[in-house]
Amino acid sequence: MCGIVGYIGSRDSIPILLDGLHRVEYRGYDSAGICVRIPTGLQIIKRAGRISDLSKVVPQLTATLGIGHTRWATHGEPTEINAHPHTDCTGRIAVVHNGIIENYAQLKEQLTWEGHVFMSDTDTEVLSHLIEKELTTGGTSGDVLTAVKKALLKVDGSFGLAVLFSSENRIVAARRGSPVILGIGKEEMFVASDAAALLPYTNNVVYLEDNQLADIHANDYTVTTLHGGAAELAVHRLQVLRSETERGGFKHFMQKEIMEQPEAIANTLRGRITESAIKISILAKDVQRVILVACGSARNACLFGKQIIESLAGISTSVEFASEFRYADPVLSSRTLVVAVSQSGETADTLAAIREATTKGSQTLAIVNVVGSSISREVDSGIYLHAGPEISVASTKAVSCMLTSLVLLALHLSPNQNARVITALHSLSSAVKETLACAPVMQQVAESIAHCTSAFFLGRGLHSAIAFEGAIKLKEISYIHAEGFPAAEMKHGPIALLQKGFPVVVLIPNDELYLKNLSSIQECKARGAAIIAITTRVNPELNKLAEHVIIIPEIIPELQPILSMIPLQLLAYYVASAKGLDVDKPRNLAKSVTVE
Ligand code: G6P
Repeated sequence: MCGIVGYIGSRDSIPILLDGLHRVEYRGYDSAGICVRIPTGLQIIKRAGRISDLSKVVPQLTATLGIGHTRWATHGEPTEINAHPHTDCTGRIAVVHNGIIENYAQLKEQLTWEGHVFMSDTDTEVLSHLIEKELTTGGTSGDVLTAVKKALLKVDGSFGLAVLFSSENRIVAARRGSPVILGIGKEEMFVASDAAALLPYTNNVVYLEDNQLADIHANDYTVTTLHGGAAELAVHRLQVLRSETERGGFKHFMQKEIMEQPEAIANTLRGRITESAIKISILAKDVQRVILVACGSARNACLFGKQIIESLAGISTSVEFASEFRYADPVLSSRTLVVAVSQSGETADTLAAIREATTKGSQTLAIVNVVGSSISREVDSGIYLHAGPEISVASTKAVSCMLTSLVLLALHLSPNQNARVITALHSLSSAVKETLACAPVMQQVAESIAHCTSAFFLGRGLHSAIAFEGAIKLKEISYIHAEGFPAAEMKHGPIALLQKGFPVVVLIPNDELYLKNLSSIQECKARGAAIIAITTRVNPELNKLAEHVIIIPEIIPELQPILSMIPLQLLAYYVASAKGLDVDKPRNLAKSVTVE
């Protein structure tokens, strides 16, 4: 959520900043800006809109030190004035910031009283003025590091930030709650909120911890805590390949990521299953109860996870909204395993939920995609998805890898590993590949419903989780109102909305609930709905009832939902494409939500 980049070295910083911003643009894309240090001071260029809009107005300048920001608005509309960087009264301090300053209103009132003049509606602007105040009247003797530290200690809330001073050939960066990564180059240094921005430039990175501050020069850097102690941080090597963060021949990242699912799932499973056993090493002992915490699509994966853990491992499992769990004062014990599921590993609510679990003495585990992310570093143990970078805001391959990992976890927690499921896992990747062959049909179906204003998704059992996921996918990228329901719930309210031509997507695999699902279809059909059935076998009765019948490969019931989800991803993708929308960067959303 919001992207930060910074550069200090001997190269021209502007192309590097703009390139870095492009690479983290998926984190927020309503406005953007850069600040570079030139001989006369700090030069700031900002624009509402995308990085491409900003690029058009950047003047011809050469500067070897700069910071940049791409914004997802929290406080204040996405206007040029509210875009970062924000400065102090003198224009000699510039700040880019991710996160939320919770006590900004009080701080702003006090600073205004003291004579500071604010230009924007943002919470961020208090930071530049607070730093100015500490530098001029805070007894810091003009020491910028002390001034930043003192300012940040007055702040409640979260930040990942970078600061430039017109008088200093350095970048000061700090973190509490929002990621900040330092990239170490040859006589040059980079800062970013996301490793994606660093990939073309360096593989050597340092992850700042909470309440740490980095003083960054071209040839070296030092990290200290906000309270003043020294901090030694390990240098990590980025494992991501640059090609993985580029679109290749695909029109959109979402399309590429949907098509990458066979490989992504194979990577999730690689080395973790033998002929008859699961080989994952996680720290979980005497688990009596499992709680899955997550947000958005990751939470939909957890709804599947609950059922699969209960049925395969026989352990009572619940699913919580991470945002609710953190404040719910949950009853936890050392025999509770709290599992955070997250693509980014940075979602603020999910991270806070894990901290709550740790404080209360529970065992913690993470199922995350981004290696080295905050959540992965705070849990007792974890399962990396190894899905590769996911750039499109709408999550696809990460979700299928989450479902797969939750099956692995269920098998691991089970006293007798289920040979039937393990055998089927070996063929999952190829079954996903076969399922993707439905893409052209889904494109036709999508074109037939692209004009609609609402749609429902129905499923039962494990497939109810997939119905929720189908709905969120469609609504987030096509802006069509969509809801998912356990099929039988339709008659308790939603059915009132059905009318002629209302699309209802029904997940109806050939399983023990087939006839129950068929009854749900009858009920919808009787009210004029247009049925889109995702099934596994030809059935004349279904053909009579449904406008579209999509037949996908059949696998064991425990894994079938992973296949059933694929046509729904394709449906959402093709509807958004048919409507000419910005598939990868849907309005109002962001990929990695690092604010509450
Ligand atoms: C955002 C994204 C969703 C994602 C959710 C959780 O809302 O738009 O696609 O499912 O965050 O993200 P996480 O990184 O924790 O999986």
